[in-house]
Amino acid sequence: MLMMAPEAAKLSQNIKNVKEAMSRSMEKLSDDKDLLMMTPGPTEVPPPVREAMSRPVENPYVQEEFSEFYHSLEDKLQELYGTEDDVIILGGEGILGLEASIASLIEKGDKVLCISNGIFGDGFADFVESYGGEPVVCDFQPDKPLNIKKIKEVVEQHDFKLATMVHCETPTGMLNPIEKVLEILKEEDMITVVDAVSSLGGTPIPMEDVDICIGGSQKCLSSPPGLTALSVSEDAWEIIMEKEDHHFYTSLKGWKEDWLEQGRFPYTPSVSNLYALDESVDSILREGKEYVYIRHEEISSQCRERGKQIGLEFFPETEKLCSPTVTAFKVDGEADRIQKEVREKHDILLATGFGDLKEDIIRVGHMGYNAEESKVKRTMDALEDVIG
Ligand SMILES: Cc1ncc(COP(=O)(O)O)c(C=O)c1O
Repeated sequence: MLMMAPEAAKLSQNIKNVKEAMSRSMEKLSDDKDLLMMTPGPTEVPPPVREAMSRPVENPYVQEEFSEFYHSLEDKLQELYGTEDDVIILGGEGILGLEASIASLIEKGDKVLCISNGIFGDGFADFVESYGGEPVVCDFQPDKPLNIKKIKEVVEQHDFKLATMVHCETPTGMLNPIEKVLEILKEEDMITVVDAVSSLGGTPIPMEDVDICIGGSQKCLSSPPGLTALSVSEDAWEIIMEKEDHHFYTSLKGWKEDWLEQGRFPYTPSVSNLYALDESVDSILREGKEYVYIRHEEISSQCRERGKQIGLEFFPETEKLCSPTVTAFKVDGEADRIQKEVREKHDILLATGFGDLKEDIIRVGHMGYNAEESKVKRTMDALEDVIG
């Protein structure tokens, strides 16, 4: 234990530094508007990101400086992902990233393992089907972790080309521990696709065994909606380039042939959104991504502790499964009322659940710019008031 003391002291000093830096930047950046958007994406967009978005628009086909800017944003995204794989940024939100990964990889009749314990996990199977593949869904209860043994069994029964999974199931606040799952899939040489739309920039992603990892601009990056980033491994490129029939806008092939190989954009990039994204990623890297992750851990733990104090239970079966980016509380048929009252009485925007759980879950997004103590405190004070 004694050996741990200097490490622990260093960590605690770092957390203190981050908190001080956060509160200074919050003071500097604070808006006058009262409405606090604590939804799990879109999140509040900080003023410097909005300012970046209003920069004069450059012409990506004519101005070399735009290409240089784009290259440097790709480098920063690689750093954020923690990968040396290519990173492609598509103009469209997270769903486009999900669809593009499937559209680019599969041929008719390909078997795809879709591991799911939620709505976005299931959604992958719909894409697979609509692009002519054969999804095999290995599903689990929405509040329970992925079961490695069951996944192994399913993998042994089929000849899969690829597998899909969701890191953070935003609608239920579950952070799936995917590291071991990815390891198993890679042992079978499968291509792995991970939806990290609501975890990229808020918590580490185990990138080692991931072939395509999908992020979204409006979650932990606190940028406006409209962009999705995909890291693409060499193995994934190989499959994509060998595939015969390609769709157009949803295919990543054009990005490889035109942009990565010839430095020419296949379509006009969403210039203003890219300026915003650049500022967002810069701010994470300036703070230090490890410290950003610690901040999310700390704030989410404060949110859950306060929830327990006011008698709220979180949705995932165990606290270990709760995401550091979004907390889902069980509210048993009261979600609409709570959402409405929190907004009307306290000027705070929360999200309800999705689908069958719509009325039974209320969600607090504490991601990116919103992973901040005073915002979560204000939100939990409001929740305490309306749940009575
Ligand atoms: C886990 C996850 N994947 C994908 C998406 C889809 O992203 P978008 O709404 O940006 O299309 C979302 C959006 O909430 C999400 O939470």
